[in-house]
Amino acid sequence: MKDTIQAILIGAGQRGTDVYGAYALHHPERIQFVAVAEPNAKRRKHFAEEHKIPAANQFTSWEPLLKRESLGQAAFVCTQDQQHTAPALTALRAGYDVLLEKPMATKAEECRQLVAVAEETGHQLHISHVLRYTKHFQTMRDIIQFGDLGDIVNISHRENVSWWHMAHSFVRGNWRREEESAPMILAKCCHDLDILVWLLDDRCQYLSSIGNLLHYRPEKAPNGAPQYCLDGCPVADSCPYYAPFIYEDLLPLWRNYAAGAQGIEKLLTQAYERTPKLLKAIGKISAGARQISEYRGWPISVVALDPTPENVHEELRKGPYGRCVYKCDNDVVDHQVVAMQFETGPSVTLTMHGHSHCEGRFTRIQGTRAELQATFGFGGSRIEVSEHRSGEKTVYDTSSTDAGHGGGDNRFIDAFVKSLQANDEALALSTARQSLESHLMAFAAEEARLGKKIVEMEHFRS
Ligand SMILES: NC(=O)c1ccc[n+]([C@@H]2O[C@H](COP(=O)([O-])OP(=O)(O)OC[C@H]3O[C@@H](n4cnc5c(N)ncnc54)[C@H](O)[C@@H]3O)[C@@H](O)[C@H]2O)c1
Repeated sequence: MKDTIQAILIGAGQRGTDVYGAYALHHPERIQFVAVAEPNAKRRKHFAEEHKIPAANQFTSWEPLLKRESLGQAAFVCTQDQQHTAPALTALRAGYDVLLEKPMATKAEECRQLVAVAEETGHQLHISHVLRYTKHFQTMRDIIQFGDLGDIVNISHRENVSWWHMAHSFVRGNWRREEESAPMILAKCCHDLDILVWLLDDRCQYLSSIGNLLHYRPEKAPNGAPQYCLDGCPVADSCPYYAPFIYEDLLPLWRNYAAGAQGIEKLLTQAYERTPKLLKAIGKISAGARQISEYRGWPISVVALDPTPENVHEELRKGPYGRCVYKCDNDVVDHQVVAMQFETGPSVTLTMHGHSHCEGRFTRIQGTRAELQATFGFGGSRIEVSEHRSGEKTVYDTSSTDAGHGGGDNRFIDAFVKSLQANDEALALSTARQSLESHLMAFAAEEARLGKKIVEMEHFRS
């Protein structure tokens, strides 16, 4: 068994730094980053300083890094969606085991190629389908697989993206344009399609899909709205998307958090909404209050590298996150439904939309012996099973105290480390081969939506 995994990071952005970098800093005995490739000088320097990476191992792009002799066992590929395939293939061929962000690639052919090269080279390739690693979805899978629900007849699964997360990532942010990133059903819902396949241990036979971009369009802009919210917007006091309300007041984030939080955290987040100034004052003596009043995490860590109030305000003046949501160059859908027939018989629907008051996934499963209803949210998660004959209800608290996709982020990295230490890919739940099916389903759904047709999955698999 090998001990600490020596790793290289490709892409020191939000995921690379805040998720994988943070994990390594918390668990230096498990992962040590020894090199970084990142074109943005500030991000590269920040990551290199945090991980004490010498100048010789800092690169402005992944190509020169991967031309060097191998610097460790693992490569973390955390670049944007369309920049996954080339560095991941090169890293596998250079001898690294690879952790690759989802979506594995934005074209079906590239996804297949990634699986083939991982199998050819014999190196591990894990895709960050973090939901498989959560207590919530693992409990749900056990309930189904143990037969508690009887035979599964129908699943209705909803990915409720909150209105402000939609505005942040898919209207103003990195995933707003299909040609620069991916269709939303791939970018946001490859997780959900993956979970459905995994829960049922089954494959989709054929599917269809509908959806469009309904709201975030120029013709919906309020009269007189300027290009940037801070340029004197006439509806600054009433528009939910007013950028300072989302990023400076941060009220949507804390409301969302309070909806699922418990105990002192719930009280503090509610208190912040009522009297932010008072909570800031309490923050001088209370670490709990400071976590809220001096919050520096997502989404403001995306708006500014060092998200102090001054830096965030400056970014909102002319940066992408300060734009009026009706005047961006976005084109991805804000709602989409996929209807699927699975091979063993169940019908399944996935509804994704970007207008939820609070962020969260809902799942309702109809079985021949019982029904399951589940919510997977920001601050808490639960599953309730109601048995048809006895009328008994069983409730499972599937909340996690770990942040990051209900604890899935950290458990995914744990599994990656363990698989590498034991040189046994079978310890992982989301290898490239396991992740391929959901990606193919997303491509099929997009073809069905655009072509207004039913698509046979066999066509995509061959
Ligand atoms: N697993 C999940 O649930 C989850 C959640 C969010 C994002 N993601 C995925 O993670 C990936 C990264 O997202 P992010 O939010 O961190 O993006 P980001 O834009 O913050 O980070 C990407 C980084 O890659 C860098 N980069 C660009 N070209 C490069 C090159 N040639 N060599 C090295 N680095 C280069 C960029 O400068 C940037 O810093 C995306 O594919 C995204 O879809 C996954």
